[in-house]
Amino acid sequence: MPRAHNFGAGPAVLPLEVVEECKKHLADLEGSGLGLMETSHRSETFQSVIDEATSRLRDLLNIPQDYSVLLLQGGASLQFHMVPLNLLTKGEQADVIVTGKWSQNTLIEMNKIRRGNSIWDGAEGGFNRIPSPAEYKASGDSVYVHYTSNNTIYGTQFKQAPDSDGRPLVVDASSDICGVPLDVSAHDVIYAGAQKNLGPSGVTVCILSPWAIAKANQNLPSMLDYKTQKEKGSMFNTPNTYGIFVLREVLRWIDNNGGVEAAHKRNKDKAEMIYSAIDSSSFWTPHAEQGSRSIMNATFRIADESLLGRFIAEAEELGLKGLRGHRIVGGIRASMYNGLELGSVERLVEFMRDFENRHS
Ligand SMILES: Cc1ncc(COP(=O)(O)O)c(C=O)c1O
Repeated sequence: MPRAHNFGAGPAVLPLEVVEECKKHLADLEGSGLGLMETSHRSETFQSVIDEATSRLRDLLNIPQDYSVLLLQGGASLQFHMVPLNLLTKGEQADVIVTGKWSQNTLIEMNKIRRGNSIWDGAEGGFNRIPSPAEYKASGDSVYVHYTSNNTIYGTQFKQAPDSDGRPLVVDASSDICGVPLDVSAHDVIYAGAQKNLGPSGVTVCILSPWAIAKANQNLPSMLDYKTQKEKGSMFNTPNTYGIFVLREVLRWIDNNGGVEAAHKRNKDKAEMIYSAIDSSSFWTPHAEQGSRSIMNATFRIADESLLGRFIAEAEELGLKGLRGHRIVGGIRASMYNGLELGSVERLVEFMRDFENRHS
């Protein structure tokens, strides 16, 4: 059966080469005689997998030597707690630029344990844009500023890191890590669930500056403590060995295909193709404002909303899957992560043109 064109927001499409490579190791990991999911995390075989995953990530993102790279569990949602737990003492507060549902969640979760302060909130405009630096200001007593680089649900994306007025910058990069260039040294914490651009769910990449490690609170349960996780090489407990293997394969694939710069170019080409189809006619309405549009998730509607069900059903028939917009936005969302081929977007655009011709 042919593979569908997977436009789902995550877990998302992986390059077929990666999936095929994983298959080879299921029963026998790298000739060890033990299967990929049956191998001890304490084995030499696995140690070399996690070491390579970490060093490839360092190379691909040009991570400074004195930064720590952790591969944790619990998704980005656990980082909504771990970041403030580690970086804020009781009474300290952090600023959040609220550009969508995930940064709303960041703030809600932060306020359960420490103090979070919104310095910009795009809810009124339906989260259809990214603010300019002139529209927000870090508060005087905040320890750090948090932002979400790509808003998966609304389809907006920062084109450059926000101005934190000299404060440490923390980013949830779950939906664009390694899909766009990232200046690691401008940040103190970068975290991202792997399940969009980097692999399966169950692995969370965490990149921490020396400041973040030094500031980290040591009186936390060990699993939540960055210092312990660093000292134990991300193996305080049993890590997601299978997920880390897939992550390594995806990183090899990104490397072999020109690195993050080339991935960014491919992602821009895909996005340009879909946005020019959306902009070509009033049949479609984009959700995000021009300068704020995401190259990872395009969100749009059919002007006649009654056609949405038919659009989704016909798309599915053609193997164009995962196009229904998130339930809080509605409409259509085409996610175009690293693993999605240009051919899939060509097929979608062809279908959009055909659908429009039949229904306008
Ligand atoms: C930007 C962003 N942050 C956080 C999350 C939540 O991630 P997780 O399910 O890994 O906790 C998502 C999930 O889609 C996301 O897109």
